[in-house]
Amino acid sequence: MDERKGFGSHFGFLMAAVGSAVGLGNIWGFPNKMGANGGFLFLIIYLILAALCGYIIMVGELALGRKTGRGAVDTYRSLTKRFKWLGWLAILSPFLILGFYCTLGGYCLKYMVLNVGNLFSASFGNNGLASAEVFGNMLSNQGESVAYGLIFVLITLLIVAGGVSGGIEKFCSVGMPCLFFMLLIVIIRSCTLPGAVDGLKYMFVPGWAVANGVIEKAPNFLEVLSSAGGQMFFSLSLGMGIMITYGSYLDKKENIEKNALIILVCDTLIALMAGLAVMPARFALDPTGDIGGPKLLFITMQNVFNTMGVVGYIFGIIFYLLVILAAVSSSISLLEVVVAHFVDKATENGKGDKRKVYSIIAGIACGLLCLLVCLDGLGGNGIAPYQLLHLPMANWNDNWLDFLDMLSEGLMMPLGALFMSICIGWELGVQVVDDECSLCGVRFKSRKFFNVCIKYITPILMVLILYGQIHAFFL
Ligand code: PFF
Repeated sequence: MDERKGFGSHFGFLMAAVGSAVGLGNIWGFPNKMGANGGFLFLIIYLILAALCGYIIMVGELALGRKTGRGAVDTYRSLTKRFKWLGWLAILSPFLILGFYCTLGGYCLKYMVLNVGNLFSASFGNNGLASAEVFGNMLSNQGESVAYGLIFVLITLLIVAGGVSGGIEKFCSVGMPCLFFMLLIVIIRSCTLPGAVDGLKYMFVPGWAVANGVIEKAPNFLEVLSSAGGQMFFSLSLGMGIMITYGSYLDKKENIEKNALIILVCDTLIALMAGLAVMPARFALDPTGDIGGPKLLFITMQNVFNTMGVVGYIFGIIFYLLVILAAVSSSISLLEVVVAHFVDKATENGKGDKRKVYSIIAGIACGLLCLLVCLDGLGGNGIAPYQLLHLPMANWNDNWLDFLDMLSEGLMMPLGALFMSICIGWELGVQVVDDECSLCGVRFKSRKFFNVCIKYITPILMVLILYGQIHAFFL
């Protein structure tokens, strides 16, 4: 049987795992959700959830993956009787996320090119149009959105086809440090703009956003909890097969607890840094601009760059390149979950390493979903889910992006994490994780904490988060 190829170095593993976690969710999701949900209160709840659920699920997923040395489907199939099916849920959600993630990645590519055009006063720049118009034109120009979306899918596919160490590890080992430094440059510029302090107040002062009319009313506790919970899953890439798959490539000598903590701290740090890059600039240069959703990234931020003249276009190029790096390092992890399963199967059946073939097949399937989301143009082109599927609830199905996000981030990820914690806490037992975590020669330090969380606290919080999400979507 062919040997299963994993990461070449520990640094490579960390960069790939941090790369998966750090993505669009950090750069626009975190700052805008934090502001809309009471700023500091959201941050505190997010950090508590990250410790009580995020860390626990991350350790659990990495341990299960490393124990079996297999992708998500085989991991659950070989370890449990009652939760055999969970692996399929763990590869279905990444697939759905890829559909809209690649669309957004394509928009970022377009905006990087746009800023190059602006810099050289070329025809593919703003051409004197306002940012809202540029964005609207892109959404209604289906050919252009599809082209950029598919280029993004192709980049993802090529890296995954290059293999774990040759493609994913190489890309992330260079991309992640670059992203960090580019983010620092944008933060320095953003926080030194006159009026930037309002952005900091928006993020960190409790009640400031409501008192100053930036958002209409303060959300209730359940809303903050479910919003912080959904954000946490999405941002840490949990509740699906990613950390199981990456864990399966992790060396047995590595300390799982330490790695989980590093991934969690890096992801939270980058989310906060992204807030410091985006929000002060928005308040300083475009105080009436949108504060959330795709418009924040593409209209508000572009307005910010437009008001800074030529330097602004250079910052625009750096900023969108940074977002593209973050998005690609996440999208490759999403595709890898799907591809790893089929590659393992082929190797097991003696068909050899079919990585390239499966990367192409999975890439085409995700390209088709991305095509639908691109053509939809955020619901403006007459093919939104409520128009095609005639679904009765309108608040979450008026465009394909929100619909797929609702299914994956809103329902499948918390469900996946809920069942995983029940599976480890009540069926497999904590000893399985303990054995795996102690393999590095150091005892499993957080065993007691892990035991209480995985059995009681994590599942209860998961149910609350799910209830909050369902309430927001359906009721
Ligand atoms: N964590 C990524 C982000 O914050 O954008 C997105 C993501 C990647 C979500 C991988 C889920 C996932 F499995």
